[in-house]
Amino acid sequence: MYSELCIEDRFLLRFWQCERPSELVKLAKVQFKHEPSFNFQEAIRKCLDHPLTKQFPPGTAYLRKLLKEVVLLAESEGSEVTEDIATPYSETLLQPEQDEGWTYKSFCYGDPHVFSQHFWRGRGNSPCPGVQGGSITLRLAQNLFEGSTGCHEWEAGFFLAEYLLNHPDLVKGKRVLELGCGAGLLGVILQRLGVGSACLTDGDDQTLRNCLHNLHINGAEGPAIQVKHMQWEDCHAEPCDILLGADILYDPEPFPVLVPLIGEFVRAGAEIYICTKIRQGATFAAFHQLVQDTGLRAENITCRSRDSLPVQFLECLPLQHQHQELVMHRVCCSAA
Ligand SMILES: C[S@@+](CC[C@H](N)C(=O)[O-])C[C@H]1O[C@@H](n2cnc3c(N)ncnc32)[C@H](O)[C@@H]1O
Repeated sequence: MYSELCIEDRFLLRFWQCERPSELVKLAKVQFKHEPSFNFQEAIRKCLDHPLTKQFPPGTAYLRKLLKEVVLLAESEGSEVTEDIATPYSETLLQPEQDEGWTYKSFCYGDPHVFSQHFWRGRGNSPCPGVQGGSITLRLAQNLFEGSTGCHEWEAGFFLAEYLLNHPDLVKGKRVLELGCGAGLLGVILQRLGVGSACLTDGDDQTLRNCLHNLHINGAEGPAIQVKHMQWEDCHAEPCDILLGADILYDPEPFPVLVPLIGEFVRAGAEIYICTKIRQGATFAAFHQLVQDTGLRAENITCRSRDSLPVQFLECLPLQHQHQELVMHRVCCSAA
């Protein structure tokens, strides 16, 4: 599927996700066998000129590293560095180092066949009319020292978002609550899929502020989408039809409160969808044991093949690299 995207689109998608500059150089060397430096400079110029880049630029630190790599490649080939690269590179060198811990990243979803027509020519940040596709921009911490885990992008979030995009009836018109909402990816998707109401919850205040910002820049604010502080250790189930959680099982410490909380939601009639990246088998086994002990059942509904999905996150680095370690569970009463 991905190979159907043209090379400019692949650069653009990876650039918006702040792909490591060294990886972009590798891609340029493979793709542009003829004059890699000239073509690489041209591809990066197009990325810099795109309206979405101008609206939500990557952090200065990223741009500086990337443009340096572009210049180094040109120098190694004895090629001239064009003004389109030299000027922004010198600008990044002059910029103060503040705010370097944060960046915007944009992610696109849809059908790879329609990507170019709808985004390359600058349609910007809104979903295309008549096409189930769009771009989502998130402000994210660039390294694990800034913000909590909720200020980063996580593979499981994309996996669950992709699931919802391909099963829109699951949430359309429904009351949805999310545990550990992080940067707000699912909130934006839920708003675009016409959720009845969504309550995005997290225990970390900085994460909630960042989530609100991300809802705002994606035009996903509104009475239907609520953002709320909710610490698993001191809360109870609230009325909802669907409960979502992406990458909330990485630490076993809160399991003794989290699993009974999930049980409360199940018994109140909610359908539960939890997507997890398996990092440690033992952590996951502990979750399963507690689920059983609480009278619940976690049914594995992971779809292994993404190729047949009509709507995909395009060239999505987290999903491409980590797909095999992601699992999706529907949790219900063991008697069900
Ligand atoms: C790994 S992040 C995943 C964020 C988001 N779901 C995603 O997939 O991008 C885990 C999230 O759970 C939240 N969290 C962790 N422990 C929590 C707790 N005890 N109560 C409430 N939220 C918690 C964190 O603040 C963080 O936002």
